[in-house]
Amino acid sequence: MQRLTNKQIILGITGGIAAYKSAELTRILKGAGAEVRVVMTASATEFITPLTLQALSGNPVHQHLLDAEAEAGMGHIELAKWADLILIAPASANFMARLASGQGDDLLTTICLATDAPICLAPAMNQAMWRDEGTQKNATTLESRGLKLFGPGVGEQACGDTGPGRMLEPTEIAELTAAQFDRGSLTGKTVFITAGPTREPLDPVRYISNHSSGKMGYALAEAAMEAGAKVKLISGPVNLPAPARIGRTSVESAEEMLNASLEDLSLCDIFIAAAAVADYRPTAIAEHKIKKGSEEIMELHLVKNPDIVATVANSSPKPFTVGFAAETRDVISYAKSKLERKNLDLIIANDVSRSDIGFNSDENAVTVISATTTETLPQASKRQLASKLIEKIAAQYHGSAVTEKEIETA
Ligand code: PMT
Repeated sequence: MQRLTNKQIILGITGGIAAYKSAELTRILKGAGAEVRVVMTASATEFITPLTLQALSGNPVHQHLLDAEAEAGMGHIELAKWADLILIAPASANFMARLASGQGDDLLTTICLATDAPICLAPAMNQAMWRDEGTQKNATTLESRGLKLFGPGVGEQACGDTGPGRMLEPTEIAELTAAQFDRGSLTGKTVFITAGPTREPLDPVRYISNHSSGKMGYALAEAAMEAGAKVKLISGPVNLPAPARIGRTSVESAEEMLNASLEDLSLCDIFIAAAAVADYRPTAIAEHKIKKGSEEIMELHLVKNPDIVATVANSSPKPFTVGFAAETRDVISYAKSKLERKNLDLIIANDVSRSDIGFNSDENAVTVISATTTETLPQASKRQLASKLIEKIAAQYHGSAVTEKEIETA
């Protein structure tokens, strides 16, 4: 089921008594981390209300093809593109027939015609209807086009008959749906990532900050999400949009970033600190704008900020903790000493003296250092580098997780 994390699923509901089970199915898919949008045929609404599905999915239910308002929101083509998978449960005999004959006469059939996503159907109908030659032919046609059929199951039916045609139970359907997705290296894991700069206010209009753009941290967040992780992105002020499917917590100061990092830390498997956190902040924030005086030199009094990544690395239970080292000289030796001093599992060193990599550039070049290994990753776009880094972090994490388990059971 962990494979459903971050997956975007259209749940199509067609007319049949088993439609009441679609409510439970929606709940299970959501609980497994999927984003669910429900599309109902007109006859499905005779069996279960759209309001129930809206409440359970957390999204408006889509029903009509020729509805200007709905099309202006998320139209049928957008829905077809949005879906990672379309699941139709229950799939009635009539719906299977319309799909098999290539019809696009309502919203759900149109989405099925327009999508590139895999389509899975959980048939549900009376046993005689399922055995009918026409339905069997339609089932074979749909399977020959690559659509997947989940079931139907055999057993007692709502009409009193016994035989094949029962819709599978919601848990079974959800498990079969999850099995359609590949397992990523971080499937089922929760990753917290800090990104961007912090701002340390001096007065209502001024602050101390740095040149971090957030690009490295955001690229890591997307790569971790693509590897199957649930990602919490804790971001300082940047000019980047919130990445799709990733929960972003926006913060300003180091103290705010620390609090956001510690919130729900017990859920975090891997913590990656890509943010450029101000080491010091003004001892006091002036209530009003500081006025220019006659003095030529102005003194600022600063106090040390909490070290976020070190706090996380020394917490219990400790997530696998990865820091970055931004250095302008002696990059590797400074990084190694930070790895040790901050109790990190890995550190990613980058040379921020260069303008083509590091701060605010689209590319980076890094050295990944653990207690026993040092590996250099050559200059590449931050997106490309992030994918490689996530694979390296995942490999080290799984290695260390195995070791810890072995120790526990020894
Ligand atoms: O945002 P971009 O423009 O894409 O640039 C990317 C980057 C250069 C900012 C990034 O690759 C990077 O190096 N981030 C870490 C910057 C930094 O603050 O490095 P540091 O060597 O000062 O800190 C070491 C580690 O401690 C870092 O993981 C940092 O997040 C963490 N730290 C530092 C101070 C502090 N008070 N709390 C921390 O958690």
